[in-house]
Amino acid sequence: MKFTASVFAVTATLLATASAHVTINPPTGTSGGYSQGNFRVPHGCSGNATDQVTVQIPKDVTSVKPRALPPWTTTINMVPLDVPIQTESGTINTTVGSVTWSGGNLPDSFYEDFGLQFKLPKMNGTLYWNVYQHCVNGEWLNWTQVPGPDGKYPPNGAPAASMTVLNTTAGSSGTTPNTSEKDVKSGVAQLATSSVAQAIVVGAGALIASLL
Ligand SMILES: *[C@@H]1O[C@H](CO)[C@@H](O)[C@H](O)[C@H]1NC(C)=O
Ligand SMILES: *[C@@H]1O[C@H](CO)[C@@H](O)[C@H](O)[C@H]1NC(C)=O
Ligand SMILES: *[C@@H]1O[C@H](CO)[C@@H](O)[C@H](O)[C@H]1NC(C)=O
Ligand SMILES: *[C@@H]1O[C@H](CO)[C@@H](O)[C@H](O)[C@H]1NC(C)=O
Ligand SMILES: *[C@@H]1O[C@H](CO)[C@@H](O)[C@H](O)[C@H]1NC(C)=O
Ligand SMILES: *[C@@H]1O[C@H](CO)[C@@H](O)[C@H](O)[C@H]1NC(C)=O
Repeated sequence: MKFTASVFAVTATLLATASAHVTINPPTGTSGGYSQGNFRVPHGCSGNATDQVTVQIPKDVTSVKPRALPPWTTTINMVPLDVPIQTESGTINTTVGSVTWSGGNLPDSFYEDFGLQFKLPKMNGTLYWNVYQHCVNGEWLNWTQVPGPDGKYPPNGAPAASMTVLNTTAGSSGTTPNTSEKDVKSGVAQLATSSVAQAIVVGAGALIASLL
């Protein structure tokens, strides 16, 4: 029994280290496309329950709509647009700057998914989302760090939630100037395979965590 308990402790520590930060599921999206992301808050603060979560909307992410998550109160915070958008029904001069879920109580031993749907900007790379987590003991966990020029995060940091947003159009980086339909299809197939692989890895982590 003692042996089992210590193996459990080691496994739990490794998992906590590997999966401690806020993640977006699914972790991938398509350039310029509509997407849905669940921001997973995996633990509280020093054992205390989480009572507020704010997701800051990255610049150029639009059409943001949060999922209602009773009993949490969901607040949409609007900010001015740099350049107002003219539409047939008038001028749009504000956009969603952040979404806050407050008034809930998420114990440290549970996780929760805070959902958003949104339209992604046109890009090809990693999109970082700042997430601010507040707990009943007054502690903040601010998930805002991005990798340095060397591609590495600071040690013991609080990385921002990230997702890979890809332009699946056969790229300018391609070696053949005249892209055939076959090339486009194989590129899409490769992309699909890598997304599936990532989803499986994430799924396996969640499975292990749920077994514990
Ligand atoms: C809450 O956090 C404080 C540190 O801020 C810690 O001393 C305390 O044990 C925690 N309470 C629980 C129930 O984990
Ligand atoms: C934004 O647009 C609304 C009408 O759609 C208008 O009442 C408001 O004054 C505008 N605000 C700014 C800062 O332009
Ligand atoms: C994808 O990349 C191509 C080539 O760079 C560009 O012309 C196109 O506008 C991009 N599309 C999206 C949706 O990002
Ligand atoms: C974390 O974010 C909150 C809310 O924006 C802020 O009040 C607090 O000062 C931040 N803490 C740190 C250490 O940056
Ligand atoms: C987007 O990036 C991927 C890999 O980073 C690359 O293979 C692809 O060609 C890029 N797409 C465009 C349109 O540049
Ligand atoms: C690319 O396509 C254009 C027009 O379809 C053609 O004139 C040109 O020769 C092609 N280049 C190559 C390298 O196949």
